[in-house]
Amino acid sequence: MRVLVVGAGGQLGRELRRAPWDPATAVVTRRSAELDITDRDAVLADVESIEPDVIVNAAAYTAVDRAEDDEARALAVNGTAVGHLAVAADRAQALLVQVSTDYVFDGTAAGWYVETDPTGPVSAYGRTKLAGERAAAVADRCVILRTAWVYGALGSNFVTTVLRLAAERDELRIVADQVGCPTSAADLAAAIVALTGWSEGGARPTPSRLYHVASPEPATWHELAIAVLEASGVPFTGECHAITTADYPTRATRPANSRLDSGRLARDLAIELPGWRRSLRAVVAEIEQGRR
Ligand SMILES: NC(=O)c1ccc[n+]([C@@H]2O[C@H](COP(=O)([O-])OP(=O)(O)OC[C@H]3O[C@@H](n4cnc5c(N)ncnc54)[C@H](OP(=O)(O)O)[C@@H]3O)[C@@H](O)[C@H]2O)c1
Repeated sequence: MRVLVVGAGGQLGRELRRAPWDPATAVVTRRSAELDITDRDAVLADVESIEPDVIVNAAAYTAVDRAEDDEARALAVNGTAVGHLAVAADRAQALLVQVSTDYVFDGTAAGWYVETDPTGPVSAYGRTKLAGERAAAVADRCVILRTAWVYGALGSNFVTTVLRLAAERDELRIVADQVGCPTSAADLAAAIVALTGWSEGGARPTPSRLYHVASPEPATWHELAIAVLEASGVPFTGECHAITTADYPTRATRPANSRLDSGRLARDLAIELPGWRRSLRAVVAEIEQGRR
C-alpha cells in the first residue's frame, strides 16, 4: 500500500510520519513547501506521479481566530483545495481521508454529538472545514474524520502553551465553561493507520463515510490545564484560575459543548482512542524531554 500525507509538517502530519504503519506500507509525505494543496495543477500532477492508494489530508488553515478576518484564504485551504484532492484521489482511484473538526457544530447540544446531528458552525474556521467535508464527499472513495482539541509533542497547541505560560507566570486564567474531547495527535494518527489497514488501503469501503475520532473522555480547558500542570515534572506553585468564556473574549466564537461521540468508529471498525489523561502524560514527558 502507498499512502500520501499532505500537510505533513503540522501536528497530525508529523505524527503520521512516525505512526505505526505496516512495514509493507510506503508513506510519502509532502509539507506545505513541497505541495501547496491550493495549487490544483500541482496537486493533480503530484498525485498522478505518486499513484497513492490512500491520500491523508493533514493540511489545514487552523488559525481559528485569524480565519475570522481571512475567511477567503481559510476557505481556499480548508474547502476549495479539498476539492482538488478529491479529483486527484478519483483519478488515482485512491481513498481520500479528510480530517475535520468538532467546530462544525454550534455547541448548543446538551449531550454528545453523533455523526447524524445537524451541523451549524459558529466560526469562519468551522464554516470552511464544513465546506471541506462537502468537497471531500464528492470523491468516489472518502472517509471524513472529525476530531477535536488536538494536542501533541510536535507543534504548538494548548498543552505546549500551558507549559510555557506556567514557566513564565505565577497565575494562569483558563476557560472552564467550554467542554470538548482533547485528542492526542499520535492517537489520531494511529487511528488513521488502523482505518487504512481495515479498509485494505481503501479497497474495502468503510460502512460509513463520516466518523467522529476523538478521546472518549471529555474535559474543559481548565481541567485539561490542571492535568497538564500535574503531569509536568516542573512543579507549578502558582494559581490556575477557572474563568468563563466571557472573561476571555476571542475573535472567533467557539462551541460551548463539542463532545464528539466516537461510538460509530468503535462499532464499525473496532477502533477506539484511549482517554486523554493517559495520552497526555506521554506527550508532556516528550515535550519536557525536548526542552532539556
Ligand atoms: N488543532 C486542533 O485542535 C484541531 C481540532 C480539530 C480538528 N483539527 C483538524 O485536524 C487536522 C490537523 O490539524 P493540526 O492540528 O495538525 O494542524 P496544524 O498543526 O496547524 O498543521 C496544519 C498543516 O497544514 C499545512 N498547510 C496549511 N496550508 C497549506 C496548504 N495550502 N498546502 C499544504 N499544506 C498546508 C500547514 O503548513 P504551514 O505551517 O507551512 O502553513 C501545517 O503544516 C486539520 O484538518 C484540522 O482542521 C485540528
